[in-house]
Amino acid sequence: MINDMESIMFTKEQLADKVAELGQLITRDYEGKNPLMVAILKGAVVFYADIVRAVDTPAELDFMMVSSYGCGTESSGQIKIKKDLEQDIKGRHVILVEDIIDSGITMHGLMGMLKDRGAASVKLCALMSKPSRRKVEVNIDYCGFEVPDEFLVGYGLDYAEKYRNLPYIGVLKRELYS
Ligand code: IMP
Ligand code: MG
Repeated sequence: MINDMESIMFTKEQLADKVAELGQLITRDYEGKNPLMVAILKGAVVFYADIVRAVDTPAELDFMMVSSYGCGTESSGQIKIKKDLEQDIKGRHVILVEDIIDSGITMHGLMGMLKDRGAASVKLCALMSKPSRRKVEVNIDYCGFEVPDEFLVGYGLDYAEKYRNLPYIGVLKRELYS
């Protein structure tokens, strides 16, 4: 699969260092709060499996799968839930764990929806953010890396369901997707 990469954006070691750093921040902020850490399927799973183990205070785990409605120009924040949480989040401290924030539409919509369900707090932990692509504002409470507008794969991120199992994050060769 390495031959499909234009370059490597983050090595396995750089990812591990960042996960440890974010894990310490979350540990410090959530001591005694028993947060519910929610993986946004599927892209976040690899990052999620690492970050939950970098959090050194009791936490619970749950999963959601969502997609944003319609075309990219829409900024209504309307999202479609493909798989919902198993728990009631009333009064809970929720941490959404996402791979990458692009337009921001999906997380903007989801955070609003979970706050409406009565969560005590809803925060966002994203491994990466592409600020130049933002269409709606999203506050990323725990952000791993700001990245340029390149198509990235690996460590959970896919192109047509491929490359999720790469241990690093790479820039996919343009000829493979355009
Ligand atoms: P948005 O912020 O609502 O536009 O959606 C973010 C989602 O788009 C992420 O969860 C990814 O699934 C996907 N995405 C955005 N940029 C990339 C990329 O560079 N590689 C792979 N998936 C991406
Ligand atoms: Mg995703």
